[in-house]
Amino acid sequence: MIKRTDLTEAYGLAHLPAKVALAVTEKPSGGYNLITLEWFMRTSIQPPMFAISIGHTRFSHDCLQQSRFFNLVFPSVGMKPLCAMAGSSSGREIDKFEQGKVEFTWGKLHKLPVLKEAVAVFECEVVTQVRSGDHTIYVGEVRYSWANPEQKLLVYQ
Ligand SMILES: Cc1cc2nc3c(=O)[nH]c(=O)nc-3n(C[C@H](O)[C@H](O)[C@H](O)COP(=O)(O)O)c2cc1C
Repeated sequence: MIKRTDLTEAYGLAHLPAKVALAVTEKPSGGYNLITLEWFMRTSIQPPMFAISIGHTRFSHDCLQQSRFFNLVFPSVGMKPLCAMAGSSSGREIDKFEQGKVEFTWGKLHKLPVLKEAVAVFECEVVTQVRSGDHTIYVGEVRYSWANPEQKLLVYQ
């Protein structure tokens, strides 16, 4: 029977299984950062757009305030350890590309890394942003898309 409860219990039941993504951003001091995301979505067909919601305390938030580009990466199953690392450590402390021995090629838009093991990567330019409580929603227009049909998408259970 359904009961009234707190948000934590209700959301705990409702949010899994979930697709996760990684967002690549450019660090203000040079180099690149990775963040693991559950809060993202497609928001427009034409032009194609994705929104990502980034906490104000994240280093990725600083990065996006400086450089208005991100690559949205849909990870393959083998990238679960990378998602765990990118989701539990900050680019302020470590270089996640080095730590995760991430293999990549260069993108075409802003030359951000395109992860070779990914299922799909979308190179986005931020066209608008909106504050949402303690997060900022960055809406990016997709300029280039990459796909790896042999890879299987990672889903968090
Ligand atoms: C599965 C998973 C999903 C997450 N989803 C989000 C999210 O949607 N938005 C967000 O700001 N942080 C999210 N996080 C937390 C960040 O990934 C985490 O705080 C990360 O260490 C921030 O890195 P940064 O400081 O280098 O930007 C998630 C973490 C995990 C493990």
